[in-house]
Amino acid sequence: MDFDRFKDRFQLIDDRIMECLSGEPKRLYEASRHLSKAGGKRIRPLICLLSCEAVGGKADECLETAVATELIHTFTLIHDDIMDNDELRRGVPSVHQVYGEATAILAGDLLFSKAFEISNPKAMNVLAKAASDICEGQQMDISFAESKVVTEEEYLEMVRKKTAVLIQAASESGALLGGGSKDEVKGLSVYGLSIGMAFQIHDDVLDLLADEETLGKPVGSDVVEGKRSLIVIKALDSLNRGGREELLGILDKETNTQEEIARAVSLFDESKAITYCKNKAKHFIMSAKKALEQLPKSDAKNDLMEIADFIVQRKK
Ligand code: IPE
Ligand code: IPE
Ligand code: MG
Ligand code: MG
Ligand code: MG
Repeated sequence: MDFDRFKDRFQLIDDRIMECLSGEPKRLYEASRHLSKAGGKRIRPLICLLSCEAVGGKADECLETAVATELIHTFTLIHDDIMDNDELRRGVPSVHQVYGEATAILAGDLLFSKAFEISNPKAMNVLAKAASDICEGQQMDISFAESKVVTEEEYLEMVRKKTAVLIQAASESGALLGGGSKDEVKGLSVYGLSIGMAFQIHDDVLDLLADEETLGKPVGSDVVEGKRSLIVIKALDSLNRGGREELLGILDKETNTQEEIARAVSLFDESKAITYCKNKAKHFIMSAKKALEQLPKSDAKNDLMEIADFIVQRKK
């Protein structure tokens, strides 16, 4: 997908991010800007602006809230890298690697609070609910890594909370602030939720199959951490006893060699778990696009449709 046509919107978003993240102590603010300067797709604020436009609103009516979704997202990335022991993010060393854990935790907290400082009050409830859901989802993710059996339903609920609700908050608040009707707000909310589900399922596939340089974060990290992704759940379901025990052995080891990670990937392949997940993600994309059908014709609507497809085609 060609994101060039959004460059003016990205500029507005980035200028506002940098404005929010200037202050003292210098070290704390530097740490809080580290990832925003390194890169990132800015998909959440873009979706917020486009959702506002798709219901006939003007993008500047929700710019602050769009930026707030990116600040919350950046906060989750910093804390997530501490929790997942990941040393690379957006192609650069993660915040705790550069600034230490204490400052990284604070930088995350700062981003989190700035989001609520700037957001339009009308979107506050939506953002606050998303933020508490993220904490619940992240705890489920950590706890699942220690359990033997996790069901597909439990995985989907974890993903809804840790990832999808924030994308849903972006589209829903955009529609709300753009003055959308009740049905339009609902449709865009379902759109965000559905692409959010697909987003994390695809992210779990990328964790196994992407090129690390393109992805900008460590490949194979979920295997090392023993994460119970849908790929793992499906593989454990369909492998024979020997394969199942071998896979659990790799997942539950403290650290893994490249060979062990490669072996896990071939067990996933053998069990058709990756194909299953790719289809599941596509199914969510179909629901997302269906939820947009009711909207009047507009460029923003077309862009949102294209973004839905991009979610499961992206390489990073
Ligand atoms: C990564 O999100 C975290 C997940 C929810 C999977 P993105 O893939 O949107 O990360 P950036 O913002 O582009 O770096
Ligand atoms: C991320 O899940 C969800 C967040 C709330 C950040 P992951 O742990 O899979 O995200 P990445 O792969 O590190 O970006
Ligand atoms: Mg992670
Ligand atoms: Mg994580
Ligand atoms: Mg991941």
